[in-house]
Amino acid sequence: MLLLLPLLFKGILCHGPGTGEYGSGRKRYGTMYKLSTRGLAPHHPATEEPPSFRLLQISSFANQTWQHMEGSAWLGELQTHRLDPASGIIQFLWPWSGGNFSKEELKNILTLLQLYIHSFPLEVQAFSSQFQLEYPFEFQASAGCAMHSGKAPESFINTAYQGSDFLSFQGNFWKPSPGAGILAQSICKMLNRFRIIKEVVQSLLSDTCPRFLSGLLQGGKSDLERQVKPQAWVTKGSSPGPGRLLLVCHVSGFHPKPVWVIWMQGQQEQRGTRLGEVLPNADGTWYLRVTLDVAAGQAAGLYCRVKHSSLGGRDIIIHWDGYPISLILICLAIAVTLVTVVVVGSWIKQHSSNQNVSPPHVPSPTPPMEGNTQEPRGSGNHLCLAQRSWIKNKLLKKWKMILNQL
Ligand SMILES: *[C@@H]1O[C@H](CO)[C@@H](O)[C@H](O)[C@H]1NC(C)=O
Ligand SMILES: *[C@@H]1O[C@H](CO)[C@@H](O)[C@H](O)[C@H]1NC(C)=O
Repeated sequence: MLLLLPLLFKGILCHGPGTGEYGSGRKRYGTMYKLSTRGLAPHHPATEEPPSFRLLQISSFANQTWQHMEGSAWLGELQTHRLDPASGIIQFLWPWSGGNFSKEELKNILTLLQLYIHSFPLEVQAFSSQFQLEYPFEFQASAGCAMHSGKAPESFINTAYQGSDFLSFQGNFWKPSPGAGILAQSICKMLNRFRIIKEVVQSLLSDTCPRFLSGLLQGGKSDLERQVKPQAWVTKGSSPGPGRLLLVCHVSGFHPKPVWVIWMQGQQEQRGTRLGEVLPNADGTWYLRVTLDVAAGQAAGLYCRVKHSSLGGRDIIIHWDGYPISLILICLAIAVTLVTVVVVGSWIKQHSSNQNVSPPHVPSPTPPMEGNTQEPRGSGNHLCLAQRSWIKNKLLKKWKMILNQL
């Protein structure tokens, strides 16, 4: 995100912040905007290493007057901050998102970032003709730092232009990525002229970022280590072709992100298993879709197997042709209820016949069971009806009581 600080500072020096502001009511990209990190150097710390802290920026420019910026910050796979695109405000997503920085230091950094967020699009638009940028274009940046046990913290700024590596900050210089071409070279040349700015960037990367990261790691420890078990279920996907089946295994709601899911038959892992992308759920847990394309006749015996740290070695297994445990349990519960109803029913029948009342196989008072009800002899029809309904009410009450006790 700090990539174009030099441009920003230049902007402040040349014509002051806020000049050349385009209509504030300009349109924003909606859902068409695709949040992709393709082209950015992936950052995978070794498993024992603490997670890194990264700021991500994705800026899309449609034409001279229309741009959209997405921004977020991440502690490993946990999102810590979000840029609200409508207001340009940086939102803190956790109580510990401020690390252990003082209010004062946070305020200074936020001011700097806010200035960058505001000025970056303006500067890019202003420079677009000088560098012959062709609309539409997309710019991505990833900046942050990581701790390595026994070594100095590592910091980085990587950028991508149109989805390909573009330039990065190395040591104390802006450096074009290999194969990025003349555009990256000339932009780096310009950026490298601003010595003071490079020193500011250097200090933010090598001092501020690692200090902030250690505060985050302390504050976010329990949220980082939170273990949430996945739910898994299988469905049939849209058929890949005649005589073929697409088996889909859904795994959702787990945390942390690493998960292992595969379609198997006996002890055989199915090589045709296709893993989707692990996608975030709104509650901070993860979702994964794993498919297998099989001939319709060969689906028997296939099952989806899920390993996750929260399961403590007890893998989830869901059979394609069988039924998941939950379904079996539901069926079992229904069967038990039915049996209970029949048993209780006959018990009540026994008791009721002792008391000369009608059997209660139906809890509802209709239809009247004339055949089983002994008509009180000699009473009028009216009295008879009243008596019958009294008996039924009594039965219903008894029935409810028994059900409540179950
Ligand atoms: C710029 O792009 C936006 C979004 O595609 C479009 O709505 C707008 O009309 C364009 N403006 C100009 C001047 O081309
Ligand atoms: C925050 O925590 C880190 C690591 O414990 C420490 O080095 C630093 O001095 C603390 N405070 C600030 C304001 O950075």
